[in-house]
Amino acid sequence: MSINYSERIPNNVNLGSNKTLQRALEHWQPAFQEWWKEMGPENSTALEVYLRTAVSVAPDGWAHYDYVRMPDYRWGIFLTPAEAGRQVNFGAHMGDAAWQEVPGEYRSTLRRIIVTQGDTEPASVEQQRHLGLTCPSLYDLRNIFQVNVEEGRHLWAMVYLLHAYFGRDGREEAEALLERRSGDSDNPRILSAFNEKTPDWLSFFMFTFITDRDGKFQLAALAESGFDPLSRTCRFMLTEEAHHLFVGESGIGRIIQRTCEMMNQHKTDDPAKLRALGVIDLPTIQKYLNFHFSVTSDLYGNEVSSNAASFYTNGLKGRFDETKLADDHKLDTGEYPVMEVVGDNIVTKQVSALTALNERLRDDWVKDVNAGVSRWNKIPEKAGIPFRFKLPHKGFNRRIGAFTEHHISPQGQVLSEATWTNQHKQWLPIEDDQAYVRSLMGRVTEPGKYANWIAVPARGINNQPVNFEYVRFS
Ligand SMILES: [Fe+2]
Ligand SMILES: [Fe+2]
Repeated sequence: MSINYSERIPNNVNLGSNKTLQRALEHWQPAFQEWWKEMGPENSTALEVYLRTAVSVAPDGWAHYDYVRMPDYRWGIFLTPAEAGRQVNFGAHMGDAAWQEVPGEYRSTLRRIIVTQGDTEPASVEQQRHLGLTCPSLYDLRNIFQVNVEEGRHLWAMVYLLHAYFGRDGREEAEALLERRSGDSDNPRILSAFNEKTPDWLSFFMFTFITDRDGKFQLAALAESGFDPLSRTCRFMLTEEAHHLFVGESGIGRIIQRTCEMMNQHKTDDPAKLRALGVIDLPTIQKYLNFHFSVTSDLYGNEVSSNAASFYTNGLKGRFDETKLADDHKLDTGEYPVMEVVGDNIVTKQVSALTALNERLRDDWVKDVNAGVSRWNKIPEKAGIPFRFKLPHKGFNRRIGAFTEHHISPQGQVLSEATWTNQHKQWLPIEDDQAYVRSLMGRVTEPGKYANWIAVPARGINNQPVNFEYVRFS
């Protein structure tokens, strides 16, 4: 179970026993390193970062923390160990032994699923590329770099599957993963949320809280796959994802905390006064929440989808916590509610549960996001401030699915074009908000110092103090 670090590519898949595969991946490795140099965190090559590195895939395998220059990070291939006798747990092949090779008839579909997941990993590194230059503290700088190297490793995880199981097509797709660029008009990343800019740390924390959480749910659904290598790969990725969600949730929590302190200290909730004091007013944070929530909602796709149905029936992608659900795991007869706009109203209709799997996964994710928002709301509550954060209606600001052609308010009213045009500036960040947030982005690199707009974390990383030198510039 331990990871072999003596090879050029650290791995726990006995890579050395398959020379062809090993050579192919060693050939891809320098291209990855080139990509990291070009698109990884800006001006970071010389920095020594207090990073965790996986030493084994056992639950305590994260024990290893040390200073690492990021280009020397040991990106590798780590799969959760095989579960003896694992079966396909849903769909038409339920009860069959889980597949150790790609079933021929699902080859192109599985490849597409893996490429689409894989593409998000380098995309987020590209989106976050400039943020190190405006970090609010060394603690936060270390955290974003930890997220970045792990997204790089997630790319390795998907590239391993492409190389090991998809032959020549897989190798070509692995190269293309290093060629697309987030936001590039000629060769963009596959999914639109991954072509948005992440221009400031408020956006970064929202992204890791909300969009990495989409990652969690997609990976969890793929961890149920009948294709066992994909399942095992995703299981290990999920352990890394938990830290990304923590970075986002605690980051926003600390921003709220700091603003609430200033509100009480200066006895004001006036956004203009709070901005003059150098903190981010709560309504602006709400606007960023609305934006990231709506853009990420689109990642789940259409509410009703025959693709989602066939992924499920064919045993490729399950539901969240599939094996813990008590039903027939076939969904031939069940129904599931989805929304649509009829005239001026949003109505709920029942559709076949099998075709509504995108919506179901989106709903699971919404529940999880909502739980995080409730935890944030404890902060103003404790401070005696009446403001509460609230997720917008599912139909708000959507570009994919049943609401695409409609304007929906955060409260769920169907709006006319004119009303939307008039009012959407109250709900989504406008240039003025973005410029203000940008104006706060300095660079704090003295150990123990934190930018004015964010509270000091409750504790450090790996039991280190909050004034620990998490990144060395020497
Ligand atoms: Fe990831
Ligand atoms: Fe992530």
